[in-house]
Amino acid sequence: MKYYIQTLGCAMNYSDSERVAALLEKMGYDRTSVAEETDLYIFNTCSIRQKGEDRVFGYLKNIIEWKKKNPRLLVGLTGCMVRRTSSKNSEKKDQDELIKKLKPLDFTFRITEAQKLGEVLEEVRPGLEIPELKEAGLSDYLRIRPKYTSSFQAYVPIQIGCDKYCTYCIVPYARGREKSRPMEEILAECKTLVENGCKEITLGGQNVNAYGKSVFDKQSGKFGQNEDPFITLLREVDKLKALGLKRLRFTSPHPRHFTDELIELHTQLETLVNHIHLPVQAGDDAILKKMNRQYTVDEYRRIWKKIKKVLPGGSFTTDIIVGFCGETEQQFEGTRRLYEEIEWDMAYLARYSPRRGTTSFAAWEDDVSREEKARRWHVLNEVLERCSIRYNESLIGKTLEVLVEKYNEETGECEGKSRENIVVQFPGNPDMIGELVESKITKALTWSVKGAEVGI
Ligand code: 5AD
Ligand code: SF4
Repeated sequence: MKYYIQTLGCAMNYSDSERVAALLEKMGYDRTSVAEETDLYIFNTCSIRQKGEDRVFGYLKNIIEWKKKNPRLLVGLTGCMVRRTSSKNSEKKDQDELIKKLKPLDFTFRITEAQKLGEVLEEVRPGLEIPELKEAGLSDYLRIRPKYTSSFQAYVPIQIGCDKYCTYCIVPYARGREKSRPMEEILAECKTLVENGCKEITLGGQNVNAYGKSVFDKQSGKFGQNEDPFITLLREVDKLKALGLKRLRFTSPHPRHFTDELIELHTQLETLVNHIHLPVQAGDDAILKKMNRQYTVDEYRRIWKKIKKVLPGGSFTTDIIVGFCGETEQQFEGTRRLYEEIEWDMAYLARYSPRRGTTSFAAWEDDVSREEKARRWHVLNEVLERCSIRYNESLIGKTLEVLVEKYNEETGECEGKSRENIVVQFPGNPDMIGELVESKITKALTWSVKGAEVGI
């Protein structure tokens, strides 16, 4: 029996899919990369914007056709769109709304209940022989050992959910309250990874630098009172350099908890890279307040100045939403001007997408027109392209360390990322995949740079 997982959205979803893959393989399923020939199709969904949900509806149209050809095909859905673990054979009152709405769907499962996958599969296909997954730790889905997709890079979740309640964001509803994973468990996962050749670890969470600080975490009493638990965790993971860890990243932090100590740590820990991604979302105080971001433009600016001073030459990136409820032309101008001032090296620009269930959806009208959102996005994108190429040009002549991720046979080039998280392409060979190679930068493009190979 074959399985296929279609993952949409953020790195956390990709990591969750690695856990689902591990469970399915324990149940005797084999992975296929040909979606049409699978016996079990699982969507791992993203609800951050409507666009992500629309993609699922698009895929399901194809699946209706495949189901006609292969009536044994089972289709399940997990991730942010799902509220309940259920199947089409569950009692109507227990079913997730999506089962009632989407015909080709056989079952849904909340990702935090991934270990119930066997039960729902049996419910939709009685007689299916599924071994019981009675392994220690399966009560907590983060303890499921993932089937990692790469041997040299890994994303390790350190926290689930979010307590920040930005008014536009579905995450606290889709993923629940913020809860940090015990430090020993994270360190054990990281250690095993590094012992197996992993060179780069990304610690992940929706509000990652609030690790160990939520109401739940305080009640658990596991994270101590003295040092910031996130700082302790970074220091501990950094020690794995002795076993071969080369790079440590984290994503995505919140400005509220971005302390000077955390900034300075980047110069103290050998593995912690010189790239900081810090979502700003908007460059106007009234909009930030309405978004419930809990900082002002000036507070963000102060963090940026400190980062620039401590990490000159490092890269600094962000997330921005344009067209939030009631955002005036002047307020948008504030965001544009802030971009010109800070010159983020890269940014993810999003048009505000109202999400049912969030505060902004209930409280305010989505009153910036589609056309105006598109215009603002393009204005900002033009500044972004200019800043990105400017940063890339500043790298010309420098030698960067590249962790090679792939090799292109047609061009004979290797591609990977530098510690600054810049995509570098340079002439190389397939044996370099997974290796750290030095490359002297010769040319800057908008989203990447070209280099010459210097050495391993
Ligand atoms: N509309 C548009 N963008 C959003 N994001 C989160 N929620 C929304 C929304 N409702 C963006 C934010 C966040 C990133 C992960 O997605 O910029 O940082
Ligand atoms: Fe959403 Fe805000 Fe939490 Fe980020 S910090 S996941 S934007 S609620």
